[in-house]
Amino acid sequence: MIPIKLSALGIYVPTKVMTNHDIAKIVDTSDEWIRTRTGIIERRIAAPEENTSTLATAAARQVLNKHGIDPLAIEMILVATMMPDTPFPSVACKVQNSIGATNAFAFDISAACSGFVYGLEIAAQFIKTGAVRNALVIGAEVLSRCIDWQDRSTCVLFGDGAGAVLLESGQENCFLSSVLRADGSGQDLLFMPAGGTTLPASIQTVENRQHFLKMKGKELFQAVVPIVCDAIIDTCEQAKISIEDVQLIVPHQANFHIIEEVAVFLGIPFERFMCNLHKYGNTSAASIPLALFDAVQEGKIVPDDYVMMLGFGAGLTCAASLIRW
Ligand code: ACO
Repeated sequence: MIPIKLSALGIYVPTKVMTNHDIAKIVDTSDEWIRTRTGIIERRIAAPEENTSTLATAAARQVLNKHGIDPLAIEMILVATMMPDTPFPSVACKVQNSIGATNAFAFDISAACSGFVYGLEIAAQFIKTGAVRNALVIGAEVLSRCIDWQDRSTCVLFGDGAGAVLLESGQENCFLSSVLRADGSGQDLLFMPAGGTTLPASIQTVENRQHFLKMKGKELFQAVVPIVCDAIIDTCEQAKISIEDVQLIVPHQANFHIIEEVAVFLGIPFERFMCNLHKYGNTSAASIPLALFDAVQEGKIVPDDYVMMLGFGAGLTCAASLIRW
């Protein structure tokens, strides 16, 4: 088995900031409600000329430029997203073209908020077997375009952004253990009704607001907490380490209270969970690399730390990956 390391990290967020106060001018809500129910204070909103592939490309460029990597050396590009520019071709192919990574093959992953961790593990399998020497894994979303700005129960939650990492074959293996899970019986807790083969776009689907994200927030909350706890426990068991040994858990940034409940259930101090949703909201597949980036910037991760990335979301899907930093 070929050892794998996570060798570079980059992000991009749109410049436009939308605060809770800004949203309170659009729908019947308040900064106080949003803060206390979710922990979110503001989020970023893509400019009209931006889309998922431009955000993903900007994050990928940061990885390449900051770390002096030749795009021609990239062998694989994966983009995790639930809001591609168009149903096809993939966002990954657009990124490949924009950055000039002409030697890379490229495809998208649809696993909602678990997509980034699914992507890491898929890339890791390719590197482990020697099929490729490196892979660019990107999580990118422009959720502001699939949010119903008349629905206060969802429009307050989401934001736009992108994060990218480079995985490479290395001397020592940093990818210690992982779980990838799915439970399709929870598919109606978070979904978009129209725009696919079930309900192709029509005047009715537009009039019925069926091209917007629909979510049963309370049920989703209750469903994800036990799934997430199991994933953390099983990932640690697989690596034969105790949860206490994990210096930082970087969870999907959906809701402050989900993280709080998981921390209480597992008896882990809340401080060992990275939390930056106050500034970006829920950015689905982008939220883990955005949080990982901030954790590094803030000195919350140092070499040799055990770090667990933890995704959960629509599907339902859940994924955890334990790495040695
Ligand atoms: N402002 C003010 N009031 C609101 C708002 C709002 N933005 N939204 C809902 N309310 C009202 C409701 O109408 C309801 O009023 P009522 O009691 O008079 O009927 C009341 O607030 C409570 O509504 P709930 O939906 O029960 O609120 P809850 O406390 O469950 O919080 C929330 C809602 C924040 C969505 C929460 O359920 C949650 O975070 N769930 C998890 C969602 C999640 O994890 N999603 C992401 C996973 S997948 C992915 O990330 C893509």
